[in-house]
Amino acid sequence: MKTTILRIAIFSAIVLGILACNKDINNYHDSPQLPEVAYDYMQIMAQTDDFKLPPAFDVNMFAPTSSVVLEDFNITNINFGSIENRPNIDIVNNDVATLGRVLFYDKKLSKNNSISCASCHKQHKAFADGTALSEGFGGKKTTRNSMSLVNPIMNNSFFWDSRQHSLKQLTFEPITNHIEMGIEDMQTLVYKLENVDYYANLFENAFGDNNVTPEKIAEAMSQFVASIFTRDSKFDEVIENSSAGLSGLEMHGMALFFSDRTNCSGCHSGLNFSAPDVPGGAYQQSEGTANIGLEVEYADNGKGSGKFKIPSLRNIALTGPYMHDGRFNTLREVLEHYNEDVNPHTHLDSKLKENGTPIKMNLTELDLDALEAFLVTLTSKSITTNPMYGNPFQY
Ligand code: HEC
Ligand code: HEC
Repeated sequence: MKTTILRIAIFSAIVLGILACNKDINNYHDSPQLPEVAYDYMQIMAQTDDFKLPPAFDVNMFAPTSSVVLEDFNITNINFGSIENRPNIDIVNNDVATLGRVLFYDKKLSKNNSISCASCHKQHKAFADGTALSEGFGGKKTTRNSMSLVNPIMNNSFFWDSRQHSLKQLTFEPITNHIEMGIEDMQTLVYKLENVDYYANLFENAFGDNNVTPEKIAEAMSQFVASIFTRDSKFDEVIENSSAGLSGLEMHGMALFFSDRTNCSGCHSGLNFSAPDVPGGAYQQSEGTANIGLEVEYADNGKGSGKFKIPSLRNIALTGPYMHDGRFNTLREVLEHYNEDVNPHTHLDSKLKENGTPIKMNLTELDLDALEAFLVTLTSKSITTNPMYGNPFQY
């Protein structure tokens, strides 16, 4: 009898040991593990308010000690802008955002309990996916590259073709989209969540009653997504504390980025390094999209005429593969495209044309290294590990 118990004990220990090592498969809780007091998502929103530069902006703050002479680069416009036109959303309640976090990570939101939002928007990839096209419900692939969810509060339009302007509306799309999550309609989801025990409390805390409605699901999820905000990259440290400084190589890259030789900042502009937001300007008319000469003839025309959303470059070092179809695996390939492979197209953006033909930037290997080094300074120090944005089902 004793030996049998001992055998069972040893066998169980081995099985548990194997399970414990097998991180990806087994370390999931059936219900979310949440902090006693909700994380302070509202405080994050407060941080977005002063996310702009002082009016008297001094280029030299980037280089307390560097030997790079910025005038040599003919920097045209360092204009970091501010958040003027936020999408119509505010985080009004930490419990609502907490519910949103659970929904974001819950695979029960898909038809066969296999996919959550986080399947394609992974925290360790700054909420991008790390694959060119993502696998959705039933193993089918999305037709476009998953997008990083970086500072969405600073965005006026969403998706590669800028077709959506409301984060709240947007959350309905992937859930009911057949390739992504496969739920036929929101009512089906409501019935499903009503039968999951931990939701009653979460809805009660967030909204004062435990009725599940499509409206509340969208509200909670969009508030969680809107709370994803960081301003703690090396670049941010420099603009907030001028004694920090960039290295010589990073400075060189920054200078190129803001120069009229590359025009990068003409499109990836403002403090979010995304579409310029000048009222009535060309990019506002095209809803922040541009054609950058990836193709002579586009298979996917994006917003039309091969125009795609000008994405934010924050955390770009974490979010490859790049472009709407994930065609480039590395930042170097992206830079080489701009340097020498821009294709002619009737709608090629004027910033990438010279006398009517595609621009040749003539960047050297050192220039490319420098641009890459500068782009890496845009990586947040906390986005991949901040528990507020982490998976509550995982340990
Ligand atoms: C199967 C993969 C997949 C799943 C699941 C998924 N997404 Fe996405 N997501 C994508 C792809 C692909 C795009 C780009 C789609 C396009 O441009 O047409 C995208 C785009 C987005 C964007 C736009 C970002 C921007 O800056 O424009 C947001 C926000 C977003 N998803 C949130 C969510 C939320 C919330 C969920 C869960 C309800 C979710 N996604 C589920 C793949 C996925
Ligand atoms: C005319 C506007 C424009 C200019 C100039 C421009 N970009 Fe872009 N950039 C875009 C658009 C639009 C996309 C997305 C295109 C697509 O997916 O089809 C993009 C995509 C990117 C991406 C990939 C983003 C992702 O999430 O996949 C990187 C990196 C990038 N650009 C860096 C740069 C750099 C560096 C420069 C200067 C050398 C530059 N861009 C110049 C508009 C521009």
